[in-house]
Amino acid sequence: MKEEMIVETEDLTKKYGAQTAVNQLNLGIKEGEIFGFLGPNGAGKTTTILMFLGLTEPTSGKAKVIGFDPARDPFKVKERVGYLPENVGFYDDMDARQNLRFISQLNRIPHEVSEKRIDYWLEMVGLAEESTKKVGTFSKGMRQRLGIAEVLIKEPKLIFLDEPTIGLDPDGTNRMLDLIHSLSREKKITIFLSSHLLDQVQRICDRVGIMIHGNLVAMGPIEELAKKKLGLNQQDYTLEEIYMKYFKEA
Ligand SMILES: Nc1ncnc2c1ncn2[C@@H]1O[C@H](COP(=O)(O)OP(=O)(O)OP(=O)(O)O)[C@@H](O)[C@H]1O
Ligand SMILES: [Mg+2]
Repeated sequence: MKEEMIVETEDLTKKYGAQTAVNQLNLGIKEGEIFGFLGPNGAGKTTTILMFLGLTEPTSGKAKVIGFDPARDPFKVKERVGYLPENVGFYDDMDARQNLRFISQLNRIPHEVSEKRIDYWLEMVGLAEESTKKVGTFSKGMRQRLGIAEVLIKEPKLIFLDEPTIGLDPDGTNRMLDLIHSLSREKKITIFLSSHLLDQVQRICDRVGIMIHGNLVAMGPIEELAKKKLGLNQQDYTLEEIYMKYFKEA
């Protein structure tokens, strides 16, 4: 029997003029996994995520996200999945709780439910003490953590995180990675994250995909890619070694 995929693509392609940002992408994300989407700057990672959310239209091919085609039913997808963009935007003159309330209202979450969720997620991301500070005064790490809380307020079963640890200090990074891991293992949320921080990806991801110049050049569990690229005998490997091999061949 074919395994159930929560995200699936068929020759998904995006061109900007003569430039191909994403070239005939075929991938499947399994329910419950943490999938790391890797690749250098300009590889097409963000463009792919935007197509998954119906925020940009594919030039050809298609995607299916939790059973919907995001190009045809963007609202159905957006209602059900979470998305942390590369640059998270907030209302800077509102405090953290007010921002989360606003998002809850947009998502038509009943007030009693949303207040409980807001308390819970502010605590989970470590912002409970800062909940009445204006977001305009937040540091980069605080904004990133509030972004995660905002994504989770809807309690989606699938979330897309575009570079979730960018700009975080080492402690903030570790806490973010632990949080992402626990969302997957304890809350059973499927996580698709893009990154170029390979040691972080190696720490938490079940499978990875490597994009180079719009092409998916590898996909699988890290140990499988290690066997394939570094040879059967090598026990000690880093994702960085594997990645560099693919990168040099591309
Ligand atoms: N709106 C746009 N108009 C024209 N070209 C674009 C647009 N958005 C992206 N591109 C191009 O598509 C390619 C892929 O960009 P994308 O942002 O998807 O890369 P990325 O893998 O997310 O990179 P990074 O790691 O730097 O975030 C790049 O060459 C970029 O210049
Ligand atoms: Mg990007």
